[in-house]
Amino acid sequence: MVKTSASDTDDYRDFCRRAADDDAVFGRFREDPIYRFVVQTELPYAGLDHWQMLSERGFDFGFFDRIRDLDVLGRADTIDYEHAGAVAPQTMRYVRIMHDLELLFGGLDGRVMIEIGGGFGGQGAVIARRFPGVRYVLVDLPEPLALARRYLGAAGITGARFAELGDLAPDARYDVAISCYAWSECERSIQQAYAERVFQRAAGGYMILNSNALRKARGWQTRTFGGEMMYTEDLMALMPAATLRPALRSGDDRLWDCQVLVWGARPEAPL
Ligand SMILES: C[S@@+](CC[C@H](N)C(=O)[O-])C[C@H]1O[C@@H](n2cnc3c(N)ncnc32)[C@H](O)[C@@H]1O
Repeated sequence: MVKTSASDTDDYRDFCRRAADDDAVFGRFREDPIYRFVVQTELPYAGLDHWQMLSERGFDFGFFDRIRDLDVLGRADTIDYEHAGAVAPQTMRYVRIMHDLELLFGGLDGRVMIEIGGGFGGQGAVIARRFPGVRYVLVDLPEPLALARRYLGAAGITGARFAELGDLAPDARYDVAISCYAWSECERSIQQAYAERVFQRAAGGYMILNSNALRKARGWQTRTFGGEMMYTEDLMALMPAATLRPALRSGDDRLWDCQVLVWGARPEAPL
């Protein structure tokens, strides 16, 4: 089968399918080695860099009481953070990204959001708990989408739509598009299609790109995809309003040389 991205492997797809279908596998999917090889749970700074960013902004850590159940589903390992209590580091990251979006774009209730490479739906879940009126479209491969459908259903989050690339209407419009460590891992023709069908059709956008790390693996890219991926500068050439936001990089992002790309933020956004 032709690979569409770095994480498009048979064992990952097969694991997602089993986690979606089998109660026992779903009950402990978050820390499974096959799963977390793609959707990482062990972060270099154990989520403290994200906690610190939230703390410096005066974020109300009481929000974590509204999402405590999200880490019980799939049994994620948690850490005790001051003020926030027991939270998985990955969930701390999802909340920090949610807060970036809130500051950049304002409230998300009633807005159409689309996420490319949304994994099990962890990012979408925290956004939906914060903004129950958000109209969320989660895009991924079919097996991760099945897992996300199950995860969000178990969390009682019912409003999301699930779509593969081929399901996306070419003339759709979105208020905010996001993709974290996902578009940057896709094969070039898939990246081009997401750029045209999603990012160029979104009034606002927020992306975390690990392109610099992948650029170092050109040989692997050519062997796997038959050519090189698009990098940040290639996407920016298609998105003249998008700018890099170094101040939004977390400790993890600096360590991994990731970039944060934003467009369409409110002029009064404090970030
Ligand atoms: C490194 S994970 C990131 C997951 C999530 N965004 C996060 O921050 O935790 C990459 C994601 O891209 C998804 N993915 C892989 N190939 C894809 C494709 N062709 N289209 C959309 N998503 C894809 C994977 O299934 C996975 O959910």
